[in-house]
This record gives sequence, C-alpha cells and structure tokens, in this order.
Amino acid sequence: MGLRISPSILSADFANLESEVTRIANADWLHVDVMDNHFVPNLTLGLPVVEAIGKVTETPIDVHLMIEDPDRWAPGYAEAGAGSVTFHVEAAAAPVRLARELRARGARASMALKPATPIEPYEDLLPELDMVLLMTVEPGFGGQAFLDIMLPKIRRTRALLDKHGGDIWLQVDGGVSATTIERCAEAGADTFVAGSAVFGADDPAAMVDQLREQAAAANHRHA
Ligand code: DX5
Ligand code: ZN
Repeated sequence: MGLRISPSILSADFANLESEVTRIANADWLHVDVMDNHFVPNLTLGLPVVEAIGKVTETPIDVHLMIEDPDRWAPGYAEAGAGSVTFHVEAAAAPVRLARELRARGARASMALKPATPIEPYEDLLPELDMVLLMTVEPGFGGQAFLDIMLPKIRRTRALLDKHGGDIWLQVDGGVSATTIERCAEAGADTFVAGSAVFGADDPAAMVDQLREQAAAANHRHA
C-alpha cells in the first residue's frame, strides 16, 4: 500500500510561503487549508494564493476546503491545477455532482467528514471518490490534540474501502504527529496531513521522512 505525507502549510510562515514550501520538497503532497470563517470559525486563504503556491512548487497540491457552498467554489480549485480537491460533505448540496465536476477538471475528488459525521450513509458514494478525509480534530485550527475516539471510524472506513476495492485513499487530518501517526496507520489510514508536527520541527524535511517511515512500519505490522 502506498503511503503519503501531506504537510499542512497552515502551520507555515504565511509571509514566506515559497521558502516554507521549499523546506519540505520531499513531501508527497502539499496540504492547503482553505477556510471561509463560516463553515469554520477561522479565515485563511483562497484561490489566488493556491494559484501562487502552484507556481513555486512541483509538489502536487492537496486543497482542503473548509467552506460553505463548495458546489460553487471547489471546481475553480481544480481548474487552477490542484491535484486533489477535498470538500466537506456536511457543506455540499450535491456531492455526487461535485465529485464528477472535480474529476472532469482533472483533479482527484475527495470528501471530508467532521468528527461527528459518520461514514456509513455515504458508502454508496465511494465509487465517485478518489479519497476520503477523516478529520481527527474539529476543523478550523492547527495544533489541536489528536482525537483518539476517531480511531474506530478510521477502521470502519478502511473496511468499507477494502470492500469496494479500487484505490481510494484514506486521509487523516488533525493532530497527526510522531506520537499519533502509528495509531492512524494501524487503523488503516494511508495519507497523512501534518501541520504543526512538520513546521514546528527543527528540520521539517527530516520530520516528513520520519513520519513516512513510522507510518510504513506501523502499516507493515498491521498488514
Ligand atoms: C485543521 C486543518 C488541518 C491543520 C492540521 O482544520 O484541516 O489541516 O492544519 O494541523 P495539525 O497537524 O497541527 O493538527
Ligand atoms: Zn486540512
């Protein structure tokens, strides 16, 4: 199973995004958190900044939209060249149509669930998706503590993905660090967002490699 580390630039220095991105050139993806101060109580950045980041990195961009009305706004991120676009199912009016629009624009289509949203009602949507993002904190801020109570949902989601076959990635986001990534990998996650753990480290690139190795070892033990 492939494993991917996607550092969240939410914990990077926003005044120096180009150099921050350059510090983690060994990352598999670059996680960019878009917040609108409505879906979550925080405001970050939008399409112009995502476009600007795309011009200074070869790393594919993994956009996480924590916004209302993703049906209207998400396709623009795919058109801007994001490799993966994640919308929250709690905010989407027509998630199937939206996922198809993202794929039609060349992006991977991904659906995110807040901690209190169960995966089971969305089982039939899985063939429309390339990734499921499970929040392991309440969305809105970096640096929060990992919610261990989410581990059963990670396991149940992994079982559903295995049942359906294909290659749908399972991403975890929130509180993922050297002390929690093994739990996530053992539960079945294969794609890991880490913000404060990476950008708070003395050597962010070394932390990316360390997290990938820890996840691989835990995944191997589990397999
Ligand atoms: C939170 C964001 C996360 C955040 C993770 O709502 O979706 O991507 O940056 O930050 P850490 O890894 O510090 O929990
Ligand atoms: Zn995120």
